[in-house]
Amino acid sequence: MDLTDRTVVLTGATDGIGRATALKLAGHVGHLILHGLQTRAEVAGLLDGLAGRVTYLQADYGHLDQVSGLAADIKVAASHVDLLINNAARPGPQRRERTADGIEATLQTNYLSTVVLCTTLRARLGRVLNIASATHLTADLGLDDLGLASGGYSAVGAYARSKLAIVTFTCWLAGRLDGGTAEAASVHPGVIRSRLLNDMFSIQGAAPERGADNILHVARLPGSINGRYFDEREPTRPNPTAEAPAIQRELLDRTADLLAPIGVDPR
Ligand SMILES: NC(=O)c1ccc[n+]([C@@H]2O[C@H](COP(=O)([O-])OP(=O)(O)OC[C@H]3O[C@@H](n4cnc5c(N)ncnc54)[C@H](OP(=O)(O)O)[C@@H]3O)[C@@H](O)[C@H]2O)c1
Repeated sequence: MDLTDRTVVLTGATDGIGRATALKLAGHVGHLILHGLQTRAEVAGLLDGLAGRVTYLQADYGHLDQVSGLAADIKVAASHVDLLINNAARPGPQRRERTADGIEATLQTNYLSTVVLCTTLRARLGRVLNIASATHLTADLGLDDLGLASGGYSAVGAYARSKLAIVTFTCWLAGRLDGGTAEAASVHPGVIRSRLLNDMFSIQGAAPERGADNILHVARLPGSINGRYFDEREPTRPNPTAEAPAIQRELLDRTADLLAPIGVDPR
């Protein structure tokens, strides 16, 4: 897909891979809509250096009403979103935390918030890239206890579960999009040096620009990528859990229950 003149929404655009992606996109698309957790004043150093038409929207994914507000703000800013990159995420906290909405924080930030944006914006979406992680390959969903309330919590476990939920949701969503004008895929961006990587894993990563290049490679691929999972640039099989229709349906039911308080039903 040629991104020139397109409207692109990128979440988590203020640090790490998202920041590197924003820097690469600015001035090369029609309208770049960036989301961040921080205030405009706090990220002025980034925003002031970006070329082209840029809109900045703030929302803390730890508050579902703010995610709904973000979706509403995007609707005001753009009648059509040619490319939505759901990149924002947090590492699992060392000890299990609940958000203001009473939901395990990693699940809400990394998974539910992406579902809210995809659902609320669905009628105006073109290509959706949900940023996943190879950690999803060895995760389990634990559908009876998605938020790890009854034990077995670990920071990496919660993170990997949130990413398996993303990949499963993306496969489900792809089955409901026509693949011609609207499509959804998930991408593992690589092992990349960032605050998130540093918080959870004691390994070195590649430069954030590599993660950005991987995401933008997939974003620009011609033809349909609907339902695909990419390991960096390679289309590959996701965790089989993600492709099982019965599991997808059950995840969607649990997700709808969790989002009922804000009136969002992805089904
Ligand atoms: N790094 C890797 O090796 C790796 C591997 C696989 C997948 N990924 C995925 O790649 C994506 C980017 O990660 P990264 O490594 O670049 O991490 P990062 O540098 O920590 O960036 C994460 C972004 O998400 C934002 N964010 C965090 N908590 C938020 C919240 N509560 N509400 C709204 N936004 C929030 C951050 O905002 P602030 O800067 O204001 O905190 C930041 O812009 C994530 O989806 C991650 O899971 C990364």
